[in-house]
Amino acid sequence: MTTSDIKKKIRIFDTTLRDGEQTPGVTVSPDQKLEIAMKLDELGVDTIEAGFPVVSPGEVEAIRKIMKQGLKAEICGLARTTQNDIDVALKSDLKYIHTFIATSDIHLQYKLKMTREQVLEKAIYAVEYAKKHGLVVEFSAEDATRSDIQFLNKIFKSVAETGADRIDIPDTVGYSTPQYMSRLVSEVADVTGLPVSVHCHNDFGLAVANSIAGFQAGASCAHVTINGLGERAGNAALEELVMACQCLYQIPHNIITEQLYDVSKFVSSAMGIIVQPNKAIIGENAFGHESGIHTHGIINNPLTYEPISPELVGRKRWMQAGKHAGAHGIKAILDEFGITASDLQLKEIVEKQKSIADGGKSITTSDLLSIASEVLKNKKFDENFKLNDFHIVTGLHIIPTAVVKLNIHGKDFIASETGVGPVDSALKAIQTIAHGIANIKIREYKLDSITGGSDALAEVSVKVEDKEGNIISARKSGEDIVVASVQAMIDAINKTMLKKMIQSGEPTK
Ligand code: KIV
Ligand code: ZN
Repeated sequence: MTTSDIKKKIRIFDTTLRDGEQTPGVTVSPDQKLEIAMKLDELGVDTIEAGFPVVSPGEVEAIRKIMKQGLKAEICGLARTTQNDIDVALKSDLKYIHTFIATSDIHLQYKLKMTREQVLEKAIYAVEYAKKHGLVVEFSAEDATRSDIQFLNKIFKSVAETGADRIDIPDTVGYSTPQYMSRLVSEVADVTGLPVSVHCHNDFGLAVANSIAGFQAGASCAHVTINGLGERAGNAALEELVMACQCLYQIPHNIITEQLYDVSKFVSSAMGIIVQPNKAIIGENAFGHESGIHTHGIINNPLTYEPISPELVGRKRWMQAGKHAGAHGIKAILDEFGITASDLQLKEIVEKQKSIADGGKSITTSDLLSIASEVLKNKKFDENFKLNDFHIVTGLHIIPTAVVKLNIHGKDFIASETGVGPVDSALKAIQTIAHGIANIKIREYKLDSITGGSDALAEVSVKVEDKEGNIISARKSGEDIVVASVQAMIDAINKTMLKKMIQSGEPTK
């Protein structure tokens, strides 16, 4: 390795709490912002853009709380190039601002209604004012990639001469190609002599590729969000960019990759935005396998169909029964439950589950175990958790409250919980009882209506994950959504317990 092969560590500027929160319909409370900031800090991000202070008093409160926490990461806040925005940023206790003004003609003409000279003047004024107040200043030329490159260089050079500390190149509407980003970064770094960041949006699905092109051309930092959240198609996804840098380009960074999945889940639930299943790195299916050819390969060597090991990003591989599954995959799933079938029995199990799947149904773990118990005849899978009863109160002016009674190994347990609705409160009460015996998190809850009308048959599917990362799915249907939900949850817990007992070598009776 020569010295030119040794790559400089890049910085990750996380803007989940600012650009990510600009996802339509998303708002988080100051306390939630603080919790997310703490997770990001533990994850190892270098900078947290905590918000846009001038937007609301809640934003100022959130930033103050985050500033007080004394996190390792630098904390930054967004400000337009106005004195008021910078004053509010100062009131939020910020020491570092990200100030921006648009530079493309389309923004100047239709949004700002300003000339290039006026924009230049404002940019210089803001940097001067912020520096006078002792702030670290990162300057962004909004819509940089659609701006006239001469004007762009001029404004960046001027703010650098005025004292800006860092320059950011926003690809505001995701319009850049990797080639163009590379050209912009080299020119801007040359003209300003300052550290350059890139801020790439994903309108054409190129945000990560454009960020990497930026790094290759000398950018030292990328603005990113967890789960690629952000306006329209979002921003470059932190988890995708970091893993691509590490695995494909050997670019060093400070992120503790084993925490990526947990942070992704946390942000998804706090912001109420579900991650698409086929999303790289953190999507539910990123390490899931069904096809017989694939599961066969994976069993022999995971590298056949996985580019990286799931544990590297805090995940666990899982296999799915279904139409495309083959004997190897089904055997591997049954093995995990300590179920041994002869070749003939295995063939029958595979065929039976394929014929159900051919009818358009996905096969849950619980379905597969029922098929196996039917084929193996003598095998009855014990149910540790039995539902005795439950009672729910809900209404317009009442906090939904559930009381659930379960019998576990012959002993009765009772718990009461409130929730956002009857299902939530009932499932929380079950989890409360299960706590300490089967600590599980609900990874997915899906409700489908099988028939029409208010008396429709509803089908509830749940996926739960235990502390060891085992994922178990179960499904129940019935006219009552709450009953079906409770039954599906208990079924999933029972199968989780079964797997746990097998893994710990306990007899399953
Ligand atoms: O995408 C963008 O241009 C921005 C600016 C505020 C930098 O988010
Ligand atoms: Zn943006």
